[in-house]
Amino acid sequence: MVTAMALMCGINVNAQKPLVLYYSQTSNTKAVAEEIATKLGADIEEIALVTPYDGDYKATIERSKKEREQGITPEIKPLKVDVAKYDVIFLGYPIWYGTYAPPIATLLNKVDLSGKTIVPFCTFGSGGLESSAANLAHAQPKAKILDGYGVRAARMDAMPEEVDQFLKASGFLKGEYVKLGDFSTQHRVSDEDIAIFEAAVGDYPMISASPLTVASRAIPDGTEYLFTALEKRERPIDPNIALRPPKEMNLYIIVEGDKAPVFTRVVR
Ligand SMILES: Cc1cc2nc3c(=O)[nH]c(=O)nc-3n(C[C@H](O)[C@H](O)[C@H](O)COP(=O)(O)O)c2cc1C
Repeated sequence: MVTAMALMCGINVNAQKPLVLYYSQTSNTKAVAEEIATKLGADIEEIALVTPYDGDYKATIERSKKEREQGITPEIKPLKVDVAKYDVIFLGYPIWYGTYAPPIATLLNKVDLSGKTIVPFCTFGSGGLESSAANLAHAQPKAKILDGYGVRAARMDAMPEEVDQFLKASGFLKGEYVKLGDFSTQHRVSDEDIAIFEAAVGDYPMISASPLTVASRAIPDGTEYLFTALEKRERPIDPNIALRPPKEMNLYIIVEGDKAPVFTRVVR
């Protein structure tokens, strides 16, 4: 009965049950974790803090900045699950300061993930999947880190369908998925491209950048653009202070139907 139900839901019953392990402060990552666990019939556990971060954004920034300066990470409660039992662990977190939130750093110091397959997933204001996955690989060099899934907090409505596509494309779930083509070659931005970039990024406070080049590819309901952009730098008041060179970044922007352009992630 269970097997018949699992097959009907497209769950791969031959695979060992994965574990979805996550930290979430304001429930965005929790929603992704629950979506993955439901779709895979996986076990799920939330990483809880001994002293949780206050729900207030300002207070969280203040506390986390202090902890960073002191080089400490918050204490986590013991896990209820035995991580050693699982071969595949979906590890979820919000991006804080460009990488996984500090409770994950605490976890990675406590738990040995050698030999395990880790699928990172995260939610973020603008981006951080790639940098956090690289840090994961650095922290647990003997774990196999697969390509993960990340979504902007502002695009949580698109998450369930994207998770479905992600799980199918990465082989965790059976079923049809859309295989996207390659991006065209990058070319210098036109006025029209700049307008798309400006419409998507607008006055988003964390991205102050000028688009340089762009490539595109077809997606089911429109076009996805991959912009390269150069960080805008303020001139220092003292002309003798040398500016560090501006950083280059990649921005992914989608335009679907007649909807306004939205950026899906920034890779710095
Ligand atoms: C202390 C703090 C630092 C953050 N730093 C970043 C960041 O560097 N980059 C980013 O894109 N978003 C950043 N965010 C936004 C969160 O990643 C985003 O709101 C996320 O969806 C929160 O997930 P949660 O609801 O599971 O806690 C930060 C949020 C907080 C509270």
